[in-house]
Amino acid sequence: MWTVAGQPRGRYGPTGRPRGGAAKNNGDIPHMTTKVDPTISQQTGANLKVITTFNQTESVSRHVRSIAPYDAVSSLNLIMERPQLTHFKLDWNESTLSPSAKVKDALMEYLKGSNGLNWYPPLFAPELSRKISFYAGVAPEGVLVTNGSDDSLELLMKTYLDPGDRIVTPYPTYAHALLFARSRGANIVKVVYPDVFTADLDSLLKAVGPRTKMIYLVNPNNPTGAYLHREEIEQVAARAPGSLIVVDEAYFEFCGETMAAMTRDHENIVVTRSFSKAFALAALRIGYILAHPNTITQLKRIYNPKSVNTLAQVAACAALDDLGYYDRYVKQVHLAKQMVVDYCAGVGLVCRNTRANYVLIQVPHVHKAIKGLENEGIYVRDRSGIPQLRGFFRFNLGDVNQTEEILRRMDKVFRRLGIVTTPA
Ligand SMILES: Cc1ncc(COP(=O)(O)O)c(C=O)c1O
Repeated sequence: MWTVAGQPRGRYGPTGRPRGGAAKNNGDIPHMTTKVDPTISQQTGANLKVITTFNQTESVSRHVRSIAPYDAVSSLNLIMERPQLTHFKLDWNESTLSPSAKVKDALMEYLKGSNGLNWYPPLFAPELSRKISFYAGVAPEGVLVTNGSDDSLELLMKTYLDPGDRIVTPYPTYAHALLFARSRGANIVKVVYPDVFTADLDSLLKAVGPRTKMIYLVNPNNPTGAYLHREEIEQVAARAPGSLIVVDEAYFEFCGETMAAMTRDHENIVVTRSFSKAFALAALRIGYILAHPNTITQLKRIYNPKSVNTLAQVAACAALDDLGYYDRYVKQVHLAKQMVVDYCAGVGLVCRNTRANYVLIQVPHVHKAIKGLENEGIYVRDRSGIPQLRGFFRFNLGDVNQTEEILRRMDKVFRRLGIVTTPA
């Protein structure tokens, strides 16, 4: 932003702070800085020009300012670099198979039609909401479809959290949700269970008080797999009737147990779910909220009804019409997890199984192990930087055939690094 100055050089100093006390009129704007621009001076012949520049840091909301840019690490680039290799992308808990043929057919069919892409999507995703309502066993008014379940989480945080509000959550957990909470200026109260892999209701309840605005429970938790059963969540709800309890069921299809029915008679329980995991539609960004209709009404105050793109709606509808395909995949994932558990037991490695689609393995020299796996085309998620997860990496499983090959390559890497020494 430019301001011409033929006038006193003195309004702002080089740091952007007003000179000589408070600036007058519109001068006292803390997020602007000023400096002399010699090129303008030369061009115009004017003695002095003052340029007012945008102060990036101070302009950002004060709650966002303290947050470092999200450092997302994906293996996609590495995969693109070596197209000749068979890769196993296991770092983001996605499906290892593509969506069902019916989904692809529905997308192709849709694209053959006219006006598909130039118009905004159907507002509020009505057909998909109806199908989700049937699938989840809740009333259609209790469903809100969002742009991925990240979008569900952000909407909940934006709608309910004010600066200074407390949000209680077991830790470690899904970090992105906490980022949304921090951006609202909320205070995060982290509960570390005595054994991070096992939910401990007492520890959780101890952290909950009358000033708790929200409780965020990923169930099963990512990355630890810690799991709260329905009766336990009921106890949390009874202890915190004034708090919104957000149950993140991104991995519901693998786990099989849900809190969805509780949203009918608990206005303060909300469930979020995703089409990115079991339904293999991560690229299209679809998630949803299940909640009491009164809660959905509140969320609609700032919900963007066109945020779920048309292709996502078409694909998710087709996926819900082909549940058999996904059931078979989920069964394969459970068999695959057991194969990893058995392998680790056989070679003496610590493996933590979960009710979701991933497991954690603890190894010495974890960074070398992860690099070695990467060289073999296996991409896992380093979780060893989390103090409670020293030496652990997390990876998701796919089908049994894939897992045979994954374990073959893993064993090769572990033996080369001396992590596994038992006879082959
Ligand atoms: C617990 C949890 N919640 C939400 C998400 C985000 O899912 P989506 O792709 O639907 O935004 C993830 C993704 O890994 C997750 O692990």
